[in-house]
Amino acid sequence: MKCRRCRGAAIIDVRRHNAAFCKECFQHFCEEQVRRAIEHFSMLHQSDRVLVAVSGGKDSLAVWDIMRRVGYEADGLYLGLGIGDYSDESGRYAREFAEARSLKLIEISLPNDYGFDIPTGSQAARRAPCSACGLSKRHLFNQAALDHGYDVVVTGHNLDDEAAVLLGNVIRWEAGYLARQFPVLPATDGFVRKIKPLVRLSEREMAAYCVMNRIEYIVDECPMASGNRHIGYKEILNQLEEQSPGTKGSFVAGFFDKAHARFEQVAVDEREGLRPCTQCGAPTTNDVCAFCKLQIRASGVIT
Ligand code: AMP
Ligand code: FES
Ligand code: ZN
Repeated sequence: MKCRRCRGAAIIDVRRHNAAFCKECFQHFCEEQVRRAIEHFSMLHQSDRVLVAVSGGKDSLAVWDIMRRVGYEADGLYLGLGIGDYSDESGRYAREFAEARSLKLIEISLPNDYGFDIPTGSQAARRAPCSACGLSKRHLFNQAALDHGYDVVVTGHNLDDEAAVLLGNVIRWEAGYLARQFPVLPATDGFVRKIKPLVRLSEREMAAYCVMNRIEYIVDECPMASGNRHIGYKEILNQLEEQSPGTKGSFVAGFFDKAHARFEQVAVDEREGLRPCTQCGAPTTNDVCAFCKLQIRASGVIT
């Protein structure tokens, strides 16, 4: 197996590109894919203050690393979700990455700062853990960016994540979710811009990137995620990809380039119904936003 770029000995193949790379050229490939995604979707301006949401997992640590290498200064944000040992360990990886590179890491703790954790909060609110967790992350990433003066929040969603979420959204024709599934969501009243620079790179490539760059990350999956529909979708998509390399890439890129615009109006209409949450001021369609409701239920005021 020869490296496509330098013809030296390759150590990793990327079948959907019909290519293989040596270590240096794989590094170049990953940076190039991030550069292309940023450019194609006009994700960033050089003057932006950038905040990377880092979970301690491979994708978010890799995206923080690559962003800096391709020339974007970025600080990190770690959110402690209170999921036992899993949260303790993931926080440790995020902290160690930041400390080793003298990077700024903002930390928010759901238990310490908001008085509840995901296991008890989701139970009190009778929500699936991943749903309580997802809404808390969306709310707190945005809030932290606003509080600390950042223009944009970066997440480590990769090609496999996007393909699995897209499949789920298409199976149920979730027009609102499809409208909001895009690698860049522009800033609107009360929301900072959100971007996903890893949309062109796979989970396997990000694991390889971390190993090659000696980035240590939490390997375990979240213990509350078992039974999550997206895990099954990823398996199905992996089978399709195995049979026909490039399937995930064309599914996702085709949606972004050819179909997403057809759903955009749904998001515009939804935004029109937004007003400030009476508790925290975040945009919501109700009096009290979903995060504040979760917090109130979790603290036992309403059950
Ligand atoms: P997930 O929702 O777990 O698939 O994670 C998607 C992305 O959200 C990750 O790539 C991170 O950028 C971000 N993220 C997830 N969990 C955390 C966390 N605890 N703190 C900060 N960012 C996170
Ligand atoms: Fe959110 Fe597991 S990381 S429920
Ligand atoms: Zn609120």
